[in-house]
Amino acid sequence: MQASRPSSADPIEVLTAAQRPDLWERSRSLFETVWPEYNMHGNHTGKYFGTLIPKHARLQVLLYDASRDSIVGRGRTIPFRWDGTLEDLPAGIDALGLRAIDDPEPPTALSALAAEVAEDQQGRGLSGLIIKSMTAVARGAGLAPLVAPVRPSWKDRYPLTPIDRYAQWVRNDGMPFDPWLRVHVRLGATILRTETRSLQIEAPASDWEEWTGMTFPEDGDYVFPAGLAPLSVRDGVGSYWEPNIWMLHHV
Ligand SMILES: CC(C)(COP(=O)(O)OP(=O)(O)OC[C@H]1O[C@@H](n2cnc3c(N)ncnc32)[C@H](O)[C@@H]1OP(=O)(O)O)[C@@H](O)C(=O)NCCC(=O)NCCS
Repeated sequence: MQASRPSSADPIEVLTAAQRPDLWERSRSLFETVWPEYNMHGNHTGKYFGTLIPKHARLQVLLYDASRDSIVGRGRTIPFRWDGTLEDLPAGIDALGLRAIDDPEPPTALSALAAEVAEDQQGRGLSGLIIKSMTAVARGAGLAPLVAPVRPSWKDRYPLTPIDRYAQWVRNDGMPFDPWLRVHVRLGATILRTETRSLQIEAPASDWEEWTGMTFPEDGDYVFPAGLAPLSVRDGVGSYWEPNIWMLHHV
């Protein structure tokens, strides 16, 4: 039987995890396959992602297609204190997450952490709806602006290009070269700055071998599948810093 392609006429509801904790529970295992395996082993990510449902369920969004009883997208965000200056912007996603959980001061802004569209629903424009939903929950919670440490979709095709150069690449029409950056820009976002050391993944080289399906026979720097930057292997340890591009959405 031929699988039915989603059509743009499908009614998609935007719900928060606070409104539908049952759907959120269902979503937990749904999006694992959209990430490369290595990317799910951040050294610090568990600490801050783990606080989202206990503390900020009303800031987590789901795209739900009720006609098919199907969760088609998910957006995770975290509130944090930021004075709006570049100097005060956290170094990257880890620094943001750690500030958000450690800071005794009340949050003032919202940051996107992850946007995910179900594999069979990608390419139909749902990602923009996730960002719009994040902006809406930020507005509703009195948190402004919305920032995003963006993981550019096509950076893995150019792992040797510095993120600062990549962020400046544009097409003939002046829009960003990267499709995911384009979605943000079309919604009015601007680039704040790039960060080379955003998400840290340091682990035994044997773990990296399992995650990437490669072998790393000696110390060195390696390009690997779906990596946004090279992996450095030294003395049996693989070290990777994922770069990001900070973007700003006015709320
Ligand atoms: C990144 C992601 C959220 C984009 O969602 P999506 O619904 O597939 O994207 P959209 O349909 O809204 O398209 C966004 C742009 O990407 C382009 N695009 C989408 N799929 C594409 C594909 N397979 N090949 C080339 N371009 C593609 C679209 O053409 C569009 O650009 P355009 O508007 O300039 O044409 C989704 O791919 C995803 O969940 N990826 C895995 C998780 C991730 O990396 N999240 C982002 C970092 S937090």
